[in-house]
Amino acid sequence: MDYSAICNQFVKRYGEDYSLYASPGRVNLIGEHTDYNGGFVLPGAIDKVIVAAIRPNGTDTIRVYSYDMKETEEFALDEKPIQSWAMYIYGVVNELLKAGKEVHGFDCVFGGDIPIGSGLSTSAALESTFVFALNDLYQLGLEKMEMAKIGQAAEHNSVGVRCGIMDQFASVFGEEGHVLRLDCRSLEYESLPFHPGHCRVVLLDTQVKHNLAASEYNIRRSECEEGVATIQKKYPKVQLLRDVTPEMLGEFKKKLKESTFRRCMYVIRENLRVLEAQDALKAGDYQKFGALMFASHEGLSKEYNVSCEESDFLVDVARQCGVLGARMMGGGFGGCTINLLDESLYDEFIQKAISSYKEKFRKAPKIYDVKIGNGSRKIK
Ligand code: GLA
Repeated sequence: MDYSAICNQFVKRYGEDYSLYASPGRVNLIGEHTDYNGGFVLPGAIDKVIVAAIRPNGTDTIRVYSYDMKETEEFALDEKPIQSWAMYIYGVVNELLKAGKEVHGFDCVFGGDIPIGSGLSTSAALESTFVFALNDLYQLGLEKMEMAKIGQAAEHNSVGVRCGIMDQFASVFGEEGHVLRLDCRSLEYESLPFHPGHCRVVLLDTQVKHNLAASEYNIRRSECEEGVATIQKKYPKVQLLRDVTPEMLGEFKKKLKESTFRRCMYVIRENLRVLEAQDALKAGDYQKFGALMFASHEGLSKEYNVSCEESDFLVDVARQCGVLGARMMGGGFGGCTINLLDESLYDEFIQKAISSYKEKFRKAPKIYDVKIGNGSRKIK
């Protein structure tokens, strides 16, 4: 991304002196809705970012301009802002203050090239940018994992989405050319080189903005907790769905609501798929990896019920074209599908996806080629 527009805007509004920080969005190869169940995920940061030019202003007021929205907002450290995009910034500041960190007001211009509402986690990128910047500017001494947790807490407490840790983790920790296999319970992770040779990863953006995502997301999380509460009565050691096997869950088929049973079964199986996918990746078996992606989509669509007609359609087209694997990605209800395919198939697949999607939905999907990039950083 070309940062000059953001920098020029800062100079115009607040003067010459500023620092520049960026944090990326993410893709997730497999492991959806497993993070808040203590399971495994396999995300990577992408080369699309939120970037912020920022300078402490010696007061306790935050003055910020969103370059993309063309809107300004001014609020005191302890005062909730009006614009919804500013809640992410407020949230981060609020969590830092709650943690006893000393932060003060600043002037800021931010913007980015992550398509909003496409399931690439603009929100985590925004949170990570600000927590990383404030940590650096005020020398707060936070470790990377603490930064990810501050971003997640901002999302819970100020935005109202009870998200897992995956997005903020991927945004802060991202490594060029690597995907990160994170154990969301122990928070241990392994970075796996991701150079799929003759294969390519491409995102197809349904252009369906996932409005339902926040409320339905929280409902799914409660359903998982409901499942755990019932299972715990017989198996007190179970804390999260991570601890449950398909056989154990089977014992509760009659005790759980049919939909709760399906949700839990999806999570338990998806978790196992991530482990299989990790082995397939290490062995360079992309055929196997792709098959697991299709199975993941099937579960997300039929058991977890977080897909939509448009995503299902694009995954079907992928299957028909001989793509190795495809699935909806992120929280669901629209956004992008992620596709793993042999390079030789690329042109044909993209053409077919665009023409058939246009015919059915009267709009074209957007195409993004994925490059796995680095995590949060200071640019200047
Ligand atoms: C959103 C959340 C993540 C994760 C995914 C689904 O992106 O922010 O924590 O739960 O949905 O895998």
